[in-house]
Amino acid sequence: MTTSPELLHRADLRTLWLLGQPVGHSLSPLIQNSALSHLGLPIVYLAAPVTKAALPSAVRGLLALGALGANVTVPHKEAAFELCEAVSPRASAMGACNVLRFLDGRIHGDNTDGAGWLRGIEDALGATLPPRALVLGAGGAARAVAYSLLERAVPEIVVFNRRRERAEQMVSDLQTGSSRLQVASLAEFASHLDADCLVVQTTSVGLQPNEAPLVPVDRWPPGVLLSELIYGRQTALAARVQSLGGRLQDGLPMLVYQAAESLALWLERPLAEIPSQLMMDAARRHLAGR
Ligand code: ATR
Repeated sequence: MTTSPELLHRADLRTLWLLGQPVGHSLSPLIQNSALSHLGLPIVYLAAPVTKAALPSAVRGLLALGALGANVTVPHKEAAFELCEAVSPRASAMGACNVLRFLDGRIHGDNTDGAGWLRGIEDALGATLPPRALVLGAGGAARAVAYSLLERAVPEIVVFNRRRERAEQMVSDLQTGSSRLQVASLAEFASHLDADCLVVQTTSVGLQPNEAPLVPVDRWPPGVLLSELIYGRQTALAARVQSLGGRLQDGLPMLVYQAAESLALWLERPLAEIPSQLMMDAARRHLAGR
């Protein structure tokens, strides 16, 4: 994919940004620019590495420059939330923003991570989710996933985390509606695993090569899906689950669908008008060619 030079000659060119640290290996510019060029819009999406200290001035600079918006990624999603002058209810529940919009001279924050994850899961499982979800981890990604599970009123959600107090805080911040949210330790995971559940692995464990699985697994109920938010490499847990005949989904659908949801917000268009499949194909082609 190349951006045409003619596009860069246009004085009315608008910009979208990815702010994070690091951003050099992100697929977001590829995914977003594929969609923007398909839609024929005079908009480009650029990535900028930004330190924690520089984030406030970077965001205000983009606002001053008339940028259309930005994505914010690791490790700045919570800091970006604090910079916003208005936030959506879902971003407020998560305490983190991955999308910034510059509207009427003000910074508006939103969070499309949970919605992106959910769309990937519904692609795999259909609109009716299992009655139990086991969520490994209690960081920002786990909050986004749990928020979506609560939105779909999954009756029972169990959060497993190394630091139990963080899981307890997450549960008390998010608990709404009729779902039962509870906390358990990683050591208890295997005893909770049964045929009517969905397992979501949201931690960073498995990103590094040769890392041991986050939880030991010696049986996996047939048909149970393991959703991991890591993409582009198979984790030891995923390899183990696959060898036991389990179903897998990696983090690529979440990445692509949060991008599609972000673009719909910036363009103020319905999600159905965003070429999600084209974005997915661009990402898959890139990963296959590495
Ligand atoms: P993110 O926003 O991507 O979720 P995060 O907020 O830093 O990132 O959360 C990282 C998650 O990975 C947490 O659940 C963390 O567990 P703790 O809360 O106990 O720190 C988990 N995690 C990271 N490294 C881990 C490890 N070596 N073993 C177990 N859990 C780990």
